[in-house]
Order: sequence, then structure tokens, then C-alpha cells
Amino acid sequence: MLTNPDQRAAALDGSLPWADVIEEVLRFEPSIAHAPLRYAVHDFTLGDVAIAAGDPILSCPAGANRDPEIYGDSAGSFDPTRTNKDHMAFGYGPHRCPGAPLARLEAQVALPSLFQRFPQMKLAVSSDELGSVPGFIANGHDRLPVLLK
Ligand code: HEM
Repeated sequence: MLTNPDQRAAALDGSLPWADVIEEVLRFEPSIAHAPLRYAVHDFTLGDVAIAAGDPILSCPAGANRDPEIYGDSAGSFDPTRTNKDHMAFGYGPHRCPGAPLARLEAQVALPSLFQRFPQMKLAVSSDELGSVPGFIANGHDRLPVLLK
């Protein structure tokens, strides 16, 4: 939202729901890129790959969230208006994140409050200079310097 003035303006004037922005952020840049320490509870085949009970599995929600078979040609673009709101940011199945409703609610309160309070807010560095958190599990910027006014 700091690098796309049109989407930012639309969210602030209410024509683009913040809920749609938040779902697209969760799809496009999920906080958990890879989820390790999963083990198959029974033998199964996924595509051409045979997985045996007890095999360790490294799932990649960030990859699934940009699957062109699911999201089409625009899978690699940030588009809060896309109609398919499904994503893997909170995992899947019995261990799906129980904090998802709270996380969504926090974002729904915090983001509009921040952008309304600081309408002039902008990145203090070029977006090319934003680094990533180290490691392969978490996904995000290691810092996000902004000028509030
Ligand atoms: C944007 C914020 C958040 C993201 C992206 C997120 C993502 C995830 C993911 C990917 C998992 C693993 C799901 C799986 O194994 O299939 C998970 C599990 C979990 N999350 Fe979150 N989470 C968020 C916020 C929260 C919050 C706010 C809470 C608690 C208040 C929370 C509590 C948990 C717990 C307890 C688990 C373990 C569930 C289990 O193993 O049965 N999360 N979360």
C-alpha cells in the first residue's frame, strides 16, 4: 500500500475494502513461507511422489499461494480485487491456525488506523532496498523504514 497510491487511495475512500487488501496480503506475502516439522501419518501419493507414513514434509504455503493453476496468469501480481480469496497463509486441516480470526481483526483495525492517522506516510528508502527476514520459515521485511509526515 506504500508503493501503490491508487490502491491506497481506494482503500482509504472505502471503494476497496480493507478486508480484501488483507486477504491479498496474506496470499501474496504470507507470514509463514515454509512450514517444517510435518510428518505423514499414512502412506499416500501426491502427484507422482510416493510419501510413506513417517516421512518428513516441508510444505510451502508461499508457493501454493502463487499457483497459476489456482489463481491464473495474475498469480504473481498483487490484486486485492481478485475473486478467489482462498489461500494457505493460515495452513490447512486440523492444525489450521486458530488465531486467524484475531489476526484478521487486528489487521482490520490497525491498517486503516495507521493510514488514516498518517496520510502522508511513505517509504523512507526505495522498495528495492527493503531486505527480508533471515531464514526460510518466516516471510517479511527485516525492517520497514517510513517517513510518517
Ligand atoms: C497473520 C498472522 C498469523 C499467521 C499468518 C499465522 C499462521 C499460522 C500457520 C501457517 C500455522 C500452521 C498451520 C498448519 O500447521 O497447518 C499456524 C498455527 C498456529 N497459530 Fe497462527 N498465524 C497468525 C496469527 C496467530 C495468532 C494471532 C494466534 C493466537 C492468538 C495464533 C495461534 C496459532 C496456534 C496456536 C497454532 C498451532 C495450531 C496447531 O498446531 O494445532 N496464530 N498459524
